[in-house]
Amino acid sequence: MVGFVALIPREIATPNGAATIHVLSFFAVHPDYRGARIGTELASRMLAISDRPILTYTEPGSHSERAFSQAATARGWTFRHITELRTYAGGAIPRSGPSVVARQATVEEFIAATRPREPTPIAWSQPTLEPARHYLSDPRGACLAVAETKNGDVLGAALIVRSEVLTADGAEDVPSVDAVWVHTHHGETLSAFRTFALERSSGTSIVTAPNLDVVPAAAIRQSGFRATRSAFNIAILGDPAELLTREVVSTNLEVF
Ligand SMILES: CC(C)(COP(=O)(O)OP(=O)(O)OC[C@H]1O[C@@H](n2cnc3c(N)ncnc32)[C@H](O)[C@@H]1OP(=O)(O)O)[C@@H](O)C(=O)NCCC(=O)NCCS
Repeated sequence: MVGFVALIPREIATPNGAATIHVLSFFAVHPDYRGARIGTELASRMLAISDRPILTYTEPGSHSERAFSQAATARGWTFRHITELRTYAGGAIPRSGPSVVARQATVEEFIAATRPREPTPIAWSQPTLEPARHYLSDPRGACLAVAETKNGDVLGAALIVRSEVLTADGAEDVPSVDAVWVHTHHGETLSAFRTFALERSSGTSIVTAPNLDVVPAAAIRQSGFRATRSAFNIAILGDPAELLTREVVSTNLEVF
């Protein structure tokens, strides 16, 4: 085996109701075989069997971005860059008496908190029972969380995973707020997830967040997250006649 790629179905909410899209991921070719068009061929074969739009996360200007865009063109699809996702990082900020607190959630509580409030051109991830349970079987130790007010009003949900980042001291295990569903009180809610993610992991003082595109910039600052130099491009590959291919402006789907 010299390479692999995966096509993962994901339920999303769209302005026209729930839909399934594909995410192209786990894309790699053995270092001894790179540059021989194996990657482009793998991507092309995946596009050929996909009957729906595909989202990709790539490093800006990377070989994978080229491979995906060439595979899309070869299938008569468009490769539309949607946005750049900046990776954010935050440390612990001592705060007294926060008005919003995050806690571990059951699968059912998590699913209820991820349901969209109103139709928007954002492809909101809408996990059903099976994928939500699957998140929990992640060997890196995933956690489903909800954030709520003191009165118990649920304000949002988050998927928290463990990720590995390279720092000046080498590789470090850090919690990552991989996906967030926030519709109101964005700053306080995000801050609650950051605090919760840090509290439940020992030995680190950083938490990362690779996809905060659905959170207003002022709320990200208020929550204590700061932009790092790391970024991913998100693109949608699909039939240009499909509304979704043309109109999605963002997503909160997990990056890892
Ligand atoms: C991304 C990856 C899978 C591409 O596989 P690959 O078999 O090398 O890809 P291809 O040979 O089909 O090349 C794709 C494009 O990248 C270019 N490319 C690939 N390797 C290159 C190299 N060493 N130097 C310059 N360009 C290179 C190719 O020229 C091609 O562009 P072109 O058609 O305009 O010439 C492979 O580089 C890899 O495994 N990278 C590490 C894992 C990774 O980053 N995965 C992506 C996660 S989204």
